[in-house]
Amino acid sequence: MPDSLRPILQIRNVRKAYGSRTILAGISLDIAAGERLALTGPSGSGKTTLLNLLGGVDRPDSGLIEFDGRDINSLNNSDLTALRRTSFGIIFQFFHLLPTLTAAENVELPLQLNQVPAAERVNRVNQLLDRVGVSHRANAFPGELSGGEMQRVSIARAIAHKPRLLLADEPTGNLDSKNGASVLELLREVSEETRTALVLVTHSPAAAAICHREIRLLDGLIFREINPFSRPS
Ligand SMILES: Nc1ncnc2c1ncn2[C@@H]1O[C@H](COP(=O)(O)OP(=O)(O)OP(=O)(O)O)[C@@H](O)[C@H]1O
Ligand SMILES: [Mg+2]
Repeated sequence: MPDSLRPILQIRNVRKAYGSRTILAGISLDIAAGERLALTGPSGSGKTTLLNLLGGVDRPDSGLIEFDGRDINSLNNSDLTALRRTSFGIIFQFFHLLPTLTAAENVELPLQLNQVPAAERVNRVNQLLDRVGVSHRANAFPGELSGGEMQRVSIARAIAHKPRLLLADEPTGNLDSKNGASVLELLREVSEETRTALVLVTHSPAAAAICHREIRLLDGLIFREINPFSRPS
């Protein structure tokens, strides 16, 4: 298979239970570079659980998750951390901003971890905050930000190091429709500019509409796949 057609993410028969409750009962899925996939399903259907497995935040009970041909669950913690730091960006449902760092410092952190030189970091942070529309809040701490502002800072942080895989958990959930639309446009642009694969958890039809296809979870399985043939070439 030519490299351009090889999926960046291959998920095979992934299972996850909490105690005796099966949350994911065998999920299989391929995602191509540059592909935008909407992940939908009712509350409690396992969307965040699946995203955490894809991002290496948590490990499956069984099954395979390969990123760029590497089984991420066979990596030791330090190799997994390195992969996450360089290649993954995660927009968490509840932001997970570091409370003792300012908005700008939160966005700078992934650049620091990736050894981007200080002068370049400052420029990139300013551009990113500007792009998500919160540059006026650069020096505020997360506790001083509104939910929508925290969401936008967490988006800037997730895309700062140009990840190859961007995982976004309800990234417009706290935004009004105007700000939500501009964030969706930004996510679409980022995925197109850098061929970043995007997995977008959402309840919103507007968010699903920027994606090539939609996977709906129900009872631990993929219940429905919409537009399966419109993946990027
Ligand atoms: N660490 C955990 N321990 C035990 N149960 C958990 C844990 N994390 C999630 N669950 C349970 O697993 C199920 C799936 O949770 P998950 O957060 O993946 O759902 P979701 O589809 O993201 O829901 P929502 O749309 O409300 O965000 C829920 O019933 C949840 O209570
Ligand atoms: Mg969730």
